Amino acid sequence: MNFWAPLLVTGAELDAEAARLADLKAPRGGRRRSLIVHPNATEPGLGFAPGIEVSINVLMPGESTLRCRQNSSQVAMCLRGEGSITVGGRTFGFEQFDVWNVPSMDVYRYEGRGREPAVFLNYSNAPLLEKLEAHYVEEDPEERAELGAVDRSGKRAKDFADDIAIGGDGARLLGYEHLIDIDVVPSRALLWPWREVAQYLGRVEGLGGTAGKAYRGRHLYLLYNPATERRNGTTHSFFATLAQYPPNRVDIPHRHSSAAINYIFGGSGRSVVGGYRFEWRAGDIMLSAPAWAVHNHAAGPDGCRILTVQDHPLHIAMESLIWQETMKDRVVKLGSETGAQTNLARLVARA
Ligand SMILES: [Fe+2]
Repeated sequence: MNFWAPLLVTGAELDAEAARLADLKAPRGGRRRSLIVHPNATEPGLGFAPGIEVSINVLMPGESTLRCRQNSSQVAMCLRGEGSITVGGRTFGFEQFDVWNVPSMDVYRYEGRGREPAVFLNYSNAPLLEKLEAHYVEEDPEERAELGAVDRSGKRAKDFADDIAIGGDGARLLGYEHLIDIDVVPSRALLWPWREVAQYLGRVEGLGGTAGKAYRGRHLYLLYNPATERRNGTTHSFFATLAQYPPNRVDIPHRHSSAAINYIFGGSGRSVVGGYRFEWRAGDIMLSAPAWAVHNHAAGPDGCRILTVQDHPLHIAMESLIWQETMKDRVVKLGSETGAQTNLARLVARA
């Protein structure tokens, strides 16, 4: 596997771009937005990783964006200022370090609040959809009429379609109606307010004692969206995790087929990724794990806080999520065999 070189964009570079966006005349559709594009990216679908689009967005106080609907799904983090999003008919406000998702095909619109420009990072699976020539985007869409499909008895056409066992191992024949009316799992926009989430981060930071030395896992929480079920995502394509690392904590080198992008929002540290060495600090964003590149991260003297976005649920859905938790372990395919184990059971038993 060839991987894109890891790449760091500094906080100063992001700030300069946010300032440039804030100075623009109100653009069409109200979107003050720039993509952060890796030099290896090619059209269609420009990402910071091959399947992950990252954009920096600015909302001026009182300004709002045009309504939009698209079949890509998104996750965002507010870097500073205040804004609100109306999505799927609900409106919620956000402030610094809040994280939210925007489900595919939900109409959404942003608005700036407060006195200062609001800045947020947005991650989307648009590059993959664009490569597939399957990215649907509608600006200022019409409201959709419901597809009133079920009959008076409440039955669906698929309840009448064939479902025939073939052999004894689970293979089946299903009628066409099963393809066009799949089981529904509600998909909603969710907000993880920083004020609430921050209260818990000390728990993961504290695992393993001083500098986390006794713990073999990672000091983070997944921002879980139940719509993603066993794929453990924040969107159907990506997980977002918030990590809080104790000072001088060093991770064990590992690798995975999912690609990861780290945004550092507190502290500092260093990484070795595919043989490249990096130092980073609060405000920087980094392609921190191109697929299958061996990498490890280490927190600096004040620890660090990191938002990681990784296309992990997408790989689980494709049965392509392979993982090597340490370079001595064998490669496991997560989701259909037992995955890697940490020593958490022993730590919890001791506490
Ligand atoms: Fe990793």
